[in-house]
Amino acid sequence: MTPRDAAAAHLPANWSPESWRHLPADQQPDWPDQAALEAVIDELRGLPPLVFAGEARNLTRSLADVSEGRAFLLQAGDCAESFDGFSANEIRDKLKVILQMAVVFTYSTGVPTVKVGRIAGQFAKPRSTPTEARDGVELPSFRGHMVNAIDFEGAARAADPQRLLRAYNQSAATLNLLRAFTKGGFADLSQVHAWNLEFSQTSPEGRRYEVIADEIERALRFMAACGIDLATEPQLHEVDFYTSHEALVLGYEEALTRVDSLTGDWYDCSAHMLWIGERTRQLDGAHVHFLSGVKNPVGCKLGPSATPDEAVALCEALNPDRTAGRVTLISRMGATAVQETLPPIVEAVRSAGHPVVWACDPMHGNTFTSQAGFKTRRLADIMGELEGYFAVHRSLGTWPGGIHIELTGTDVTECLGGSDEVRDDQLEHRYETMCDPRLNARQSLDLAFDTAEMLRALPRHGREHA
Ligand code: PEP
Ligand code: CO
Repeated sequence: MTPRDAAAAHLPANWSPESWRHLPADQQPDWPDQAALEAVIDELRGLPPLVFAGEARNLTRSLADVSEGRAFLLQAGDCAESFDGFSANEIRDKLKVILQMAVVFTYSTGVPTVKVGRIAGQFAKPRSTPTEARDGVELPSFRGHMVNAIDFEGAARAADPQRLLRAYNQSAATLNLLRAFTKGGFADLSQVHAWNLEFSQTSPEGRRYEVIADEIERALRFMAACGIDLATEPQLHEVDFYTSHEALVLGYEEALTRVDSLTGDWYDCSAHMLWIGERTRQLDGAHVHFLSGVKNPVGCKLGPSATPDEAVALCEALNPDRTAGRVTLISRMGATAVQETLPPIVEAVRSAGHPVVWACDPMHGNTFTSQAGFKTRRLADIMGELEGYFAVHRSLGTWPGGIHIELTGTDVTECLGGSDEVRDDQLEHRYETMCDPRLNARQSLDLAFDTAEMLRALPRHGREHA
């Protein structure tokens, strides 16, 4: 049997990269020209993969550690990446915030942090309505830069398959820079001070971060003084940084799905990890089917309407072999609902014997429209959902494995609150998001410190009863 035949034996019946096309696929753009779309998909099929299967396997292994309570997952980045204002500085600043948050977790808790960006491919958005009406004019909704443009104007809102190619190219350029930053010296632990962004240095969180950075520097000097050759320890000089996005536009994902020559398995090489959104997690739908056939680690969002049976069925569909690290269940219940809706789901998945990573997205269940008409979130609600999530896992003895956050490295005013409070009347100052409101660097650091304290307060990191 060739590796490919062996791999095929484990696939769901009749799975192929294209087989999702026979199933109902929600949230797909209304492409005006099918032939033009298929031509682009063909072109993408011939382009190099963005990530390697071996890297995705390494992430599955790291996530297996998370599922077993030995590591913590930080998945973070933009709600929607943009084709406009794409620059090295923007990528660098986002990476800085994520590296800072990871240092806060690891330093405060002694638990390794697995770093996964919502980056290098997060270009497609599910929408609550397919069209948007303004002053009596109705146009297709904005679905992310992979599909159309945001301007409220007919030509801009038409789905354009050429955008799939642009998304691929921007993802490739982003990944190239991320690899250079994380392996080429920028992520060296001796640079820990340099990750503090200028505008957050003088804030209370920024100063708190400086204290940790000083202590890390002192520890490095201490080790060197003891005669340890720090230059030969790669872990001090590089970080593993993985990419992820919502696998939404399935033609794009199909085109980047390739057979790994080592194992014969299919991998979606558009990112290391892919997730299924709250609106596309139908058990008999195209998205669950598509991701059931690729070997990457996969996530699935679970909102307040998710039932325990659905959660177990999703685990069965996505991970019949019960491989640890393969499935991350990302709850996004809302601060007021989490303590009620999450426990029966955790209990059902646990008693079914599924080794999942539990993660919490405290963003999407806490969105509302401010008085001035901005879509926003309160940092207090975000923290409230995280507190509820930690309380649930603490009482069940399961490991609250990670968090899933929308943030940016720029000094935006999109979410309310924080120690340097953003107020309702200030949202208009720097409200730049194309989709959901993101935490700025100060709010992200604030969240990291408070989350680290919750992690530290867990009895032996929550594994006492596991
Ligand atoms: C998102 O992560 O940006 C998103 C749309 O989330 P959800 O599917 O949970 O609503
Ligand atoms: Co979002």
